[in-house]
Amino acid sequence: MDCASGERVPRETERPVTEADAPGKVILFGEHAVVYGRPALAVPVHRVRAWATVEQAAEAVTLRAEDLGLEHRLGDGAPDPRVRPLVDLLRRTADTLEISLPPLTVTLRSDIPISRGLGSGAAVATALVRGVSLHLGRSLPAASVSELVYEAEVAYHGMPSGIDNTVISLERPIHFAKGRPPLPVDPGTPLTLVIGDTGVESPTRKIVEEVRRGWRQARSRYESVFDRIGELSEQAVRLLEQGAIVDLGKTMDANHQLLIELEVSSEPLNRLVTAARASGAAGAKLTGAGRGGCVVALAGPDSAGEVAKALEAAGAGWVSVTRVG
Ligand code: MEV
Repeated sequence: MDCASGERVPRETERPVTEADAPGKVILFGEHAVVYGRPALAVPVHRVRAWATVEQAAEAVTLRAEDLGLEHRLGDGAPDPRVRPLVDLLRRTADTLEISLPPLTVTLRSDIPISRGLGSGAAVATALVRGVSLHLGRSLPAASVSELVYEAEVAYHGMPSGIDNTVISLERPIHFAKGRPPLPVDPGTPLTLVIGDTGVESPTRKIVEEVRRGWRQARSRYESVFDRIGELSEQAVRLLEQGAIVDLGKTMDANHQLLIELEVSSEPLNRLVTAARASGAAGAKLTGAGRGGCVVALAGPDSAGEVAKALEAAGAGWVSVTRVG
């Protein structure tokens, strides 16, 4: 058994089984520019989730990542690199709680498509922290969960902005910029979003690094695109609060065009965006790091079915309709 230093919690305070979960997310405005300090707007996606089940065990601390088919017993040598950040997160959660980990098994699973810009890694990590802290009788505030999850995001993605762990731990639409507290946003009218997956992987670390290379080579051009994206994010926060769906959709279209200028879109993403708009969506754009992954379309409550059908017909392998607000 691997024990963090600190007080040993009496077994009576531990539950036999604890379940916790966390939602996916979409970035509605500001991906990439947010890495360079510009504001962004992200919302949780409750239709897809990650879960952690924490159970008392006889002797060891074991982490099971079901979707990856991996299991690691703490103390049994080096974990597989794919679960190492989660093993470290388990230890850091115990350290934060100032609790020695008792024997337990943590099982993680998720129905959030992996590597598609929907925050699956941050959601799994958030469910883990929530599940373990709840199991040990000491639930943590959202800001502490987010801080812990950020470290796992760094291990997976390099230098993330922190938007994914923030929106997922708060489970509210947020106006986010690096280095300042996130501002929750209340939509003036509920949003109906249709998400469509190209089926192509979108490896965040690699794409963020490629954008970084482009920025080094053409700094003033990239900075000007980031400025324009940041301005759209600010406008979008106001439009979302006013419930101005038509203008919000147009602003999404403008953001997608700037992402094309950053060369993070692709033919399948553009095809889905075009199909969504043609079927009645108020606007559509890629979401997340791009190159592959998903598009998000803003539909009216009555047009969501048509938009979903159009995305499928245009080649989306997975489509989900979600409401926000
Ligand atoms: C990834 O969900 C969004 C990016 O802006 C990266 C980040 O914010 O860390 C591409």
